Amino acid sequence: MDMITHEIGRIYPVALTIAGSDSGGGAGIQADLKTFAALQVHGTVALTSITAQNTYEVTMVQDISPDMVEEQVRVVYRDLGIDAAKSGMLHTTEIIDAVSKVLNEYSFPYVLDPVMIAKSGAKLLMDEAIEALIDKLFPRASIVTPNRFEAERIVGYKIDSISDAEKALEDIIGLGPEAVVIKGGHIEGEYSIDIFYDGKSIEYFKAPRIESRTTHGTGCSFSAAITAFLARGYSLRESVENAKRFITISIAYGLELGRGSGPVNPMAYIFNEASRIQVLEELYRFVKRLSRLEWIGNLIPEVGMNITYSTPYPMNINDIAAFPGRIRYSDGLIYSYPRFGVSRHLSRYILKLRELGSYVRAAINIRYVDEAIGALKSLGYKIGFYDRRLEPDEVKRVEGRTIEWGVYEAYKDAGGPPDVIYHLGDWGKEPMIVLLSEDLDSLYNMVSGLEGIYI
Ligand SMILES: Nc1ncnc2c1ncn2[C@@H]1O[C@H](COP(=O)(O)OP(=O)(O)OP(=O)(O)O)[C@@H](O)[C@H]1O
Ligand SMILES: [Mg+2]
Repeated sequence: MDMITHEIGRIYPVALTIAGSDSGGGAGIQADLKTFAALQVHGTVALTSITAQNTYEVTMVQDISPDMVEEQVRVVYRDLGIDAAKSGMLHTTEIIDAVSKVLNEYSFPYVLDPVMIAKSGAKLLMDEAIEALIDKLFPRASIVTPNRFEAERIVGYKIDSISDAEKALEDIIGLGPEAVVIKGGHIEGEYSIDIFYDGKSIEYFKAPRIESRTTHGTGCSFSAAITAFLARGYSLRESVENAKRFITISIAYGLELGRGSGPVNPMAYIFNEASRIQVLEELYRFVKRLSRLEWIGNLIPEVGMNITYSTPYPMNINDIAAFPGRIRYSDGLIYSYPRFGVSRHLSRYILKLRELGSYVRAAINIRYVDEAIGALKSLGYKIGFYDRRLEPDEVKRVEGRTIEWGVYEAYKDAGGPPDVIYHLGDWGKEPMIVLLSEDLDSLYNMVSGLEGIYI
């Protein structure tokens, strides 16, 4: 069906979004273009409607003429080519007809986000247009991405359980798309689970539910991410899996703007990835700088020392760099080049504090001496203490929970995110001080402030 081959001048995948504009920049084509750019795909647009919108309301909608919607798709295809497309807000039956007509002239993969209602509650699809969307566009779709309410509206019954959801998947596939994913953003629970079905097997993609008000544009950015991965040649299943990871970090580090739901941050993913080499290099430079302190040997605890430094948007231990095998001392510091994912212990401090609202990125554990605590206090640092002997049995039983528990105790003790956390040990556990900071320069200042104590 495709009339043109794009052999000349194609060094980059091209994706198209057929969707509305959100003047608040959180959802719609604005979210889509940011997502395409972050995922290294060139983004193109067929605008369907203009909405006057902010983080909590939509006050006006003006539709683009159906001819104009169609023409935008054709003109892009003719010159740049399209590797994958998505649609978002298709306000009226006339626009749906036009999109169906033009998409059926081509065979590129197509992601249909059946947008019905904005986060703020405004209607983005007219009631009478829902049937047109199903009849005209579902059969052309590679995948449709309803949220729970949209899925209920499509199948005509409530989805309250996993077995309801599984029946709904089957019923939606019956309407013609190659695959479907029902999104879990609006289903309660500890995890936000998206259920994928391609007519053969069901797969669950799961991420911890983030307590966040920055969820404006999640659906748009998620379907745009699926489209970007399809444009890059991934399968439907892989594209959904990757998009799920992408949307999770975009919500966790969303933009706290406006009075309503703040915009997701599709750039979080790329900033995080782009920072990796720099994080390793800065950490390596930091340890070299420390090694020039003559008294550095006195800082090293029995169990060895480590230093961690995270990407700007850490999601787990693999976003936090440290020294494999820790740092030892014998006539000078002994260490190897830092790597990501090698310090569970200090990474837990950073991840737990982040969960509690801190911006900490760097941590170092040093040998406990009494006077150090007083010295750090008089330098103006916030100190948090926890008593390991009070660790509840149910915490002890779960591998890796001690630090989380301890950090929370220290947080309460300090009355907010501490700069210093210490404990006095327990049977077989050495007492320890952990210094915490938002960047390595401030961490260096903390350490060098202790010169008089450890010399
Ligand atoms: N609080 C959350 N924590 C983790 N993931 C979430 C959260 N809210 C939504 N998601 C994820 O974001 C993606 C979009 O899902 P959601 O159900 O929010 O779509 P939507 O209702 O279409 O969004 P929109 O209102 O922006 O159109 C899914 O992958 C979903 O699992
Ligand atoms: Mg949506």
